[in-house]
Amino acid sequence: MKAQKSIVWKESYPGIWKADIGQKQKHSLLQAAGGKVNLSALNQLPKTVFPLDKGTIEIKIIQGKTYLKLPLQQGEQLFGLGLNFQTVNQRGRILNLHMDHFGGKDNGRTHAPVPFYVSSKGYGVLIDAAQYITVYAGTGVRVDSKNPPELQDRNTNKKWSAQPYSDAVEVLVPANGTSLYVFAGPSPMQAVQRYNLLNGGGYLPPKWGLGFTQRVPTLYSQEDILKEVASFEEHDFPLDFIGVEPGWQSMSYPCTFEWDTTRFPTPKLFLAKLAEKGVSANLWLNPYVSPKSSLYPLVKNLTGSHTVWNGLVPDFTLAQTRQLYKNHFKKNHLDIGVGGYKIDEVDGYDNWVWPDVATFPSGTSAEEMRQIYGSLVQKMTADWYKEINKRTYGLVRASNAGSSHLPYIIYNDYYNHKDFITALVNSSFIGVLWTPEVRASKTAEEWIRRMQSACFSPMAMINAWADGTKPWTFPEVAEAVKEVANLRMQLLPYLYTTFAAYYREGKPPFRAMQLVDEFSDQNIQERGLLDATTNPYQMAIRKDIKDQYMMGDEILVAPMFAGEKSRQVILPKGKWYDFYSGEFVGENQLIQIEPPLEKIPLFVRDGGIIPMVPVHRQAPKQGERWPLTLQHYGQNPGAFTLYDDDGKSFDYEKGKFTLSKYSVQRNPQGKLVGNQAIQAPMSYLPEVRWVFMTK
Ligand code: GAL
Repeated sequence: MKAQKSIVWKESYPGIWKADIGQKQKHSLLQAAGGKVNLSALNQLPKTVFPLDKGTIEIKIIQGKTYLKLPLQQGEQLFGLGLNFQTVNQRGRILNLHMDHFGGKDNGRTHAPVPFYVSSKGYGVLIDAAQYITVYAGTGVRVDSKNPPELQDRNTNKKWSAQPYSDAVEVLVPANGTSLYVFAGPSPMQAVQRYNLLNGGGYLPPKWGLGFTQRVPTLYSQEDILKEVASFEEHDFPLDFIGVEPGWQSMSYPCTFEWDTTRFPTPKLFLAKLAEKGVSANLWLNPYVSPKSSLYPLVKNLTGSHTVWNGLVPDFTLAQTRQLYKNHFKKNHLDIGVGGYKIDEVDGYDNWVWPDVATFPSGTSAEEMRQIYGSLVQKMTADWYKEINKRTYGLVRASNAGSSHLPYIIYNDYYNHKDFITALVNSSFIGVLWTPEVRASKTAEEWIRRMQSACFSPMAMINAWADGTKPWTFPEVAEAVKEVANLRMQLLPYLYTTFAAYYREGKPPFRAMQLVDEFSDQNIQERGLLDATTNPYQMAIRKDIKDQYMMGDEILVAPMFAGEKSRQVILPKGKWYDFYSGEFVGENQLIQIEPPLEKIPLFVRDGGIIPMVPVHRQAPKQGERWPLTLQHYGQNPGAFTLYDDDGKSFDYEKGKFTLSKYSVQRNPQGKLVGNQAIQAPMSYLPEVRWVFMTK
């Protein structure tokens, strides 16, 4: 066929191949996110060859649209393709990747519609298109298929299915060109690492970002907030940063980005008082400009044809717009000590965000703007903090491919606890972070279960903007809530090292079991039985592993949900031990557990070493050196390389960090002994205490 394109694959970086197809487009997702490749880390990964049969990849451009076809093998599973909330394996699904809030169904409309998938066969594919693309992830069957499905007669064959076997991923890009990337593994994790490293790896949060955060009710004044901080002190509850919701602004929806002088008469003093308490402030905003803002007349000509809530929609692809925002935000926030932002509503609901017929002064289409807007705002604000050599850690409701290096965590208004965990699992495939934030609960049981999983996520947060909840809202479980928040604080050295591995090696800090090498390949598709009412076409029934995950290399987290007294946990190969008791729990098997209400089930692999510190309410301050305890699990020797630095600046980029390697060996008498690190960590005491958890 005439439209068929021959493909030129270029190995741009080790194990990463790129093909530019057809016309170069004005925007791409990776460009918008603006990451810089980490070549030296890519060089550390195994040397590989192109992971697919090149001859099976087909590209056509027909009437201004690009058609892509990529091969699939029998039994192969596909992960990623956006921040999904209910499903993990995407094979057999159709996704229209479209920036949006999550509307209750995994159909591609989500807060991070990332067009990247990683295969269980150990490779990844990115379609770097800033359009609403449709991915048929193994659904269509082509007449020219080399592996056609078996012909079956529904009259006589009980195994007939309306989804016959498909041997291809097909993608429709509504543009006359695009860029395609293929990432080698050899493992799924290594494919994800390469994808993240292409974009600079993960962001290394400031240490305070890993502490606890409370977002206060919308109309709280500066006095109310200072009282809130004092009550955290009184309750001896961890608190590193406070989230200030819309009421800090003189007007919101649309926004002025200027302080409300009745509720916040002295913002500079307010921030200084917070700083005295060791607490940083994070400000809520959406980027739509109110006519009442002094920024309004300045940006008027640099905004789109349509408004959002009567606010102007800035064209952030223009350097001039970004400069005006920078001036306004620096003066009003950064220069007086604001620690970061929560960037809301950049995902959109179709009925209030700009429509696809909107136009922008840069000539960027409304569709492209929708897909990249979240990335543009993240990059712009991240750059301001980088310039002043101060790390930030914030929240955003829209993101896309290539944003792992940006300091933002995704959240939303949806609230199903189980689906929140599935989103956490799925975030690891696509280079984004997600928080299962806690807002309110019907029962004390739900409250503690939600708090436990929030404390085992990238951001331990209560978002009380509407409900005014506090950690101690349910007195029956207040102690248990404090216990899990304290445990998170104790795990700070482990967590920080885990995030450093995201930055340095591209390894997602919270990751799906499907990315664990020792996780045996599960056969998770089951043939559905005919049921004329609920399953008339005998569609496959999925058994996704979506309610357990890894925090770093060593800890498996199996959260509990309200109403459930027991659950199953799938343990990967190797022996696994209970985090709290050190007892052996199983090996490459499915176990049934009945954990108490006050504990989130945690398991450590054999030989795992977990560095911990005594309970502290906040991340360490300048010059503090804390004692370290190293907990060893199981019978195997092990090693742990602890990463450390000043926890707040970018000086680590200039080599100001420490890597301290601790190890456990068996001595000639057969006893396990711990070895000191040669290089002492920057903010911990050189003498460590060893605890051998498994007796
Ligand atoms: C929502 C956001 C909430 C809260 C609220 C304030 O859109 O998702 O977390 O910030 O706005 O108006």
